[in-house]
Amino acid sequence: MPPSLTTLLLLLSLSVSALLASAAQKIETLRTTSNGHFNPQLPPRAFTSSKKFEGSSEFINLKYHMGPVLSNAPINIYLIWYGSWPKPKQAPIRDFLLSFSAPTSATPRRGKALSPSVEQWWRTVSLYADQTNANVSKSIIVAGEYSDSKYSHGKALTRLTVQQVIASAVQLAPFPADHKHGIYLVLTSDDVAMQDFCRAVCGFHYFTFPSMVGYTLPYAWIGDSGKQCPEVCAYPFAIPSYMTGARALRAPNDDAGVDGMVSVIAHELAELATNPLVNAWYAGEDPTAPTEIADLCEGLYGSGGGGGYIGQVMLDRKGRTFNVNGINGRRFLVQWVWNPFLKACSGPNALD
Ligand SMILES: *[C@@H]1O[C@H](CO)[C@@H](O)[C@H](O)[C@H]1NC(C)=O
Repeated sequence: MPPSLTTLLLLLSLSVSALLASAAQKIETLRTTSNGHFNPQLPPRAFTSSKKFEGSSEFINLKYHMGPVLSNAPINIYLIWYGSWPKPKQAPIRDFLLSFSAPTSATPRRGKALSPSVEQWWRTVSLYADQTNANVSKSIIVAGEYSDSKYSHGKALTRLTVQQVIASAVQLAPFPADHKHGIYLVLTSDDVAMQDFCRAVCGFHYFTFPSMVGYTLPYAWIGDSGKQCPEVCAYPFAIPSYMTGARALRAPNDDAGVDGMVSVIAHELAELATNPLVNAWYAGEDPTAPTEIADLCEGLYGSGGGGGYIGQVMLDRKGRTFNVNGINGRRFLVQWVWNPFLKACSGPNALD
């Protein structure tokens, strides 16, 4: 099928579901249950609602396409802070990344996280393996950081210039071109525009071209949407104006832009790990528009979610929403990912 037709059909189904979403679901209620979970009855973010799947489904044909997964331990994350990043905005993101390999503990302990934890969330991702039965690594570290605070490639980036941002960082050598263990995360501040940001993407992952960077390096870009489109990319911490009567949920670290980024970072990391060269785990027939393990569960954060609802999540004492714990007492709200054995979206805060 020519891509244009596929795109048309996709747009059509998206706009139909957007109409349905805005017409049918305008009311939010909070259903609090005795176990401390609550079910925010928020309508879905319209533009991704077609990708939500409630419960298990035999119709999702997630396939393995013979390529590698990120099985080398540890997975070295190289962070590029692009633009203006005050420390209070960096801290929750760094703590989140440091939580992937932090052990889960029954009681609060230094360097560990309470259950349900970020580490338990990643266990679903490490169920995926390649053709040699090598699983996605459970060990993830932040191996290097670089601040591109002078906007070396301007305040409006594209899918190609973001590779130049990585090339510049690698040339300056705050960290190596690590093509065995490395993944590169470019995080842009709230004043940086990106091609398709807000309209079609909140983040994306791909790999660099040897002609631009010298190597094939898996990377992801995620932007702080706080000033540009929080109602799109930091949902449910901000809500589109057409959802009259709905109230945004309070972000776990009190920063809608950053807390929204955390879930998008999780989304992109899960997909980078299981489909780093876009030839491993995805559903759909079109490799140029693969539906990957996090795409299948976008907008779903807890049990009973789907059909437009985010599912049962938790509230802290200050009324902030979360579904996983990290190190340093941090909490985060992170979308679920597709579990290949349950054939359903799952996460560590599932109520059995
Ligand atoms: C590794 O992947 C296989 C195949 O998906 C799975 O059965 C196994 O449970 C995974 N191992 C771990 C430790 O997650």
